[in-house]
Amino acid sequence: MIVIENANQILTIPPGSTGPKRGWEMQDLGIIEKANIWIDNGKVVKISREKPEGEYEGIDAQGKIVLPGFVDPHTHPVFAGYRDFEFSLKLKGMSYEEITKMGGGINYTIKMTNESSYDEIFEQSSKRIRKMIEHGTLAAEAKSGYGVNVEREIMLLDIIRDLGEKYPIDLIPTFLLHFPPKNMDREKYIDEILKRMDVISKKAKFADVFCDSIAFNVIETKNFLTNAQKYGLKLRMHADEIEYIGCSSLGLKIHLKSVDHALKTPKTILRAYSKKDTVFVLLPGTPFMLFQKKYANARYMIENNIPVALGTDLNPNCYTENIQEIITLAVTQMKMSIEEAISAVTFNAAYSLDIHDKHGSIAPGRPANILIADVPSYTHFAYHFGINLIEKIIKDGKVVKI
Ligand code: NIG
Ligand code: FE
Repeated sequence: MIVIENANQILTIPPGSTGPKRGWEMQDLGIIEKANIWIDNGKVVKISREKPEGEYEGIDAQGKIVLPGFVDPHTHPVFAGYRDFEFSLKLKGMSYEEITKMGGGINYTIKMTNESSYDEIFEQSSKRIRKMIEHGTLAAEAKSGYGVNVEREIMLLDIIRDLGEKYPIDLIPTFLLHFPPKNMDREKYIDEILKRMDVISKKAKFADVFCDSIAFNVIETKNFLTNAQKYGLKLRMHADEIEYIGCSSLGLKIHLKSVDHALKTPKTILRAYSKKDTVFVLLPGTPFMLFQKKYANARYMIENNIPVALGTDLNPNCYTENIQEIITLAVTQMKMSIEEAISAVTFNAAYSLDIHDKHGSIAPGRPANILIADVPSYTHFAYHFGINLIEKIIKDGKVVKI
C-alpha cells in the first residue's frame, strides 16, 4: 500500500457529462484540498482526509499538488533528422510551404528516416520518450509518418510498440498517411498501403491523414480513412493547418475521434461539431515555432461546446516533449484558462484516444497514473513557465525512476 499524504490540492479531473469535457465542464478540476490518496495493486483505492493507519509506504506531498499523468494526444516521436538549421530560413521569412517545396521540411526528415537503421531511430526516439515521461506525460499518441514507404512505416510502428514496452508510458500507435511519395502516383501509393492494411491494423489503433494543401486532398483522405475504418482502426485527422480545403468538413460525414490543428477552420464548420464527441486537438507549439501570429480559435470552440484537448505535436519542426510548455502557450496565446488547459491535457486528451478509463482522471478503482508537482497550487502551471514542475511520477501504482 502506498499513501500520498497531505497534498495541498488533488486535481481529480471529473469526466464530462457527455463523455468529453465541454463548455463550463472544462473549468471543473474536481479539487480536493489537504487530502491523501491510497494506492494498492496499481490502482487508486481511496481519496480522503482520514489519517492513514497500519503499514504503508508514505509519499509526502505537503505543500504540493497531485494530478493525473498528462496525456499527449498528438506526437510524431519516431524519426531521424533534426531540422535545427531551418531556423535561419524561418528567420529570413521563409514559410513552412516554401521550405517544404524546396525539398526541406518534412522531405528532409523522410529522407533521413529512410537512411537510418531501426537501432538508430530507436535510440533517438528513446531520448524523446524519456523526456516526455520526465515532464509528466504518462500516455501519448505516437504516429508513424516519416517513412512514407509502406514497409518503413510498418517498421516505425514496430519501433513505437517496442518503445512502449521498454518505458513506463502507454503509447497509442497511429498510422499516419503523411506525405505523398516523390516517385509514385498518389492513388497507387494509397492502394499500396491499403493492400498492407491487414498488417497495419494489427500494429496501429488509429489512422490519420495530413489533409491539407501541401499533402493529401479531401478525396484521397476520404478514400484512405473509410477503408482504414473497415479494418477496425479509429480515425483522426490533421486538418486545416495551412489552408482550409474542406478537410474538417469531411470530418462531419465520417466519425473522427479527433480533428487536429484546426488553425483555419471556418466558424460555420466549427459550430457543426458542437454536438459531436470529436475532440479538437489544438497544437499551439506549431504556429509558435513557425513564427505565426494566428492560433486556433480555442475560445470560440469552448464557447460553442466543442471538446478541446492540447498536444505538443512533437516533431522536428515543433521540437518539444514538454506538455507543460503547451499549457503556457494555450493560456498566453489562445486565452484558455489554466483550468481549461489542464482539462485539455488530461481527460479530454485521454478521451480522444479512447483511454479515458485508464488516464486523465483520479478516482477509486482507476489505475494510479499520478503526478506530484512541487507547487502550492495548480495556478503555477502556465505562470511558472519554461521549467519542469513535476517532482514525482507514479505509473500504474509504481514510482517511476527515470
Ligand atoms: O503535425 N503537419 C503535418 N505534420 C506535422 C509536421 C511535420 C513536419 O514538419 O515534419 C505536424 O505539424
Ligand atoms: Fe502532427
